[in-house]
Amino acid sequence: MSDRIPLPYTPKVLELFKNPKNLGKMVDANASAMAGSLACGDMIAIYLKIDDETQTILNATFESYGCAANIAASSILTEMLKGKKLEDAWKISWKDVSSELGGLPTVKYHCGVMAVGAFRRAVRGYFKNKQKPEWIPEELTAEERHVVEEEKLVEILSKRMSSGSLPPTC
Ligand code: FES
Repeated sequence: MSDRIPLPYTPKVLELFKNPKNLGKMVDANASAMAGSLACGDMIAIYLKIDDETQTILNATFESYGCAANIAASSILTEMLKGKKLEDAWKISWKDVSSELGGLPTVKYHCGVMAVGAFRRAVRGYFKNKQKPEWIPEELTAEERHVVEEEKLVEILSKRMSSGSLPPTC
């Protein structure tokens, strides 16, 4: 019998975990990005179909190898993105995602941060060979920095593990 205490997930998180919306790779996406987290070893990919003329998000999907909170956060985020102008979508923060879910447990905040970080990374990628609009800041946003910091740690840890300086169970 497990002695783990279940996390206090809201009904919305549980519903989207069981029946996620917009799950799956998008074959005709014109923007996409992945993000990974050291804390849990989870990964997320975001796919966007953007109308180049109007810069409106026509469709958004995701793939997640993450926890219930990550799946629910990615699912609700893709719902929030659809039909939005990129500039408005860019403003969606991890707190907006969390509040749309009715809240996330504190230890699961980063699951929402990772979803938003992946989305913003996809938007930056979309403008890589285009004129970057002024609403995209030069500096990474908090959500993007969080993703990058976790990925750097993954790299350091995996190098240490492959060099034998850490046991594989670390
Ligand atoms: Fe890692 Fe949720 S615990 S994404």
